[in-house]
Amino acid sequence: MNDLEGFDIVWARPVLSPRTIGGVLARRGELPAFLRSGNVHFFHLGRNALWHGARALKLPANSCVAVPTFHCGTELDALLHLGLRLKFYEVTRSLQVDLASLEATLDDHTRAVLVTHYFGLPQNMSMLRDFCNHHRLRLIEDCAHTLEATQDGKLLGTFGDVAFFSLHKLLPAPDGGALIVNSDDLEPPAPARRVPSSITWDYLKRDLVRSRLATLRPRHQSDIGDRRFLRWVYPGLSKFGDGDGYLRQRKAEWHGLDPKQLVWDMAPLSYRVLRNSDCQALRHHRMANYRFLANRLIESEEVRPMVRDVPAECCPLAFPIFVKDPGGLMRHLLAHGIETGPFWNSNHPSFPARRWPWPASQGGQTSGHCPAHR
Ligand SMILES: Cc1ncc(COP(=O)(O)O)c(C=O)c1O
Repeated sequence: MNDLEGFDIVWARPVLSPRTIGGVLARRGELPAFLRSGNVHFFHLGRNALWHGARALKLPANSCVAVPTFHCGTELDALLHLGLRLKFYEVTRSLQVDLASLEATLDDHTRAVLVTHYFGLPQNMSMLRDFCNHHRLRLIEDCAHTLEATQDGKLLGTFGDVAFFSLHKLLPAPDGGALIVNSDDLEPPAPARRVPSSITWDYLKRDLVRSRLATLRPRHQSDIGDRRFLRWVYPGLSKFGDGDGYLRQRKAEWHGLDPKQLVWDMAPLSYRVLRNSDCQALRHHRMANYRFLANRLIESEEVRPMVRDVPAECCPLAFPIFVKDPGGLMRHLLAHGIETGPFWNSNHPSFPARRWPWPASQGGQTSGHCPAHR
């Protein structure tokens, strides 16, 4: 029985605004501590970083990777593109790996396990590391929803044989994926090539124009200023990039991994954003927002929090909630100047959704979250 029927997920991401872009371009700081070591490699997107990481594992042909039933879909694409087969294991409703289900998934062909720190809420990594060592499995750590977080004094992203981040989700960067190769026996990927600047322009236009001009109803004086500035600057911006064609195509193939992107580096502007971001301050800010929302949200027929308590050292992407009427909530939040969008609202074609009442149905119709970055 799926008692979450009728619930859905919504989400929001940080964007560069006219107010923040000046600060980003002005300085040239250091990369944040968690990305400073020599075994970090940057790519256009997180899925591309995963592709390179999974390739570095050199898994034998016909290998299976155990992946969670609750997933984005793009991470599955990266693995499928390498010819790997997928075996699904369950996660609990508090978003933790169900170890019994993972163990039951393993067979003679299983060579690796992918685990995800959903919304930045960490998995028990020491336990999972021991589990993988015991079963002689490679561990792939999906840090797409977090950055600069620790567990037991160790950075997330250092437990897996390989780990990857999706930097544009938590930072106002137009793109950005980072791969960390932790195991000494793995060969690092070849250096990436510069991403075409037209792609960066298209992302910038999407961020600046769609988010700030098209959707946000100005409630504050600063938002009105942003809109005026964008009205003034947009005719000039539209000369750059390919006029949204690439983004439209990417949206249409949301679950696709674009092979031509695999060699692309992260955009120079994203390096700038990364160098000028105080990730520790950002982490504290996100934690404070998460706690604020967790303390304030009253559970009702319509809205249910997924996880209220989180460890102090984590860096949440958002405050996840199950929502009955995602459209209604999104409209309500937008009216209060908070933009959100649907979250993981379709099932990946490789996923046998009918077998799992939770969270498969969430992929098609049903669970949710509130932004934690403001
Ligand atoms: C859990 C998870 N893993 C991987 C990815 C891939 O990240 P990116 O969009 O940077 O390719 C995403 C998001 O798309 C995600 O939510």
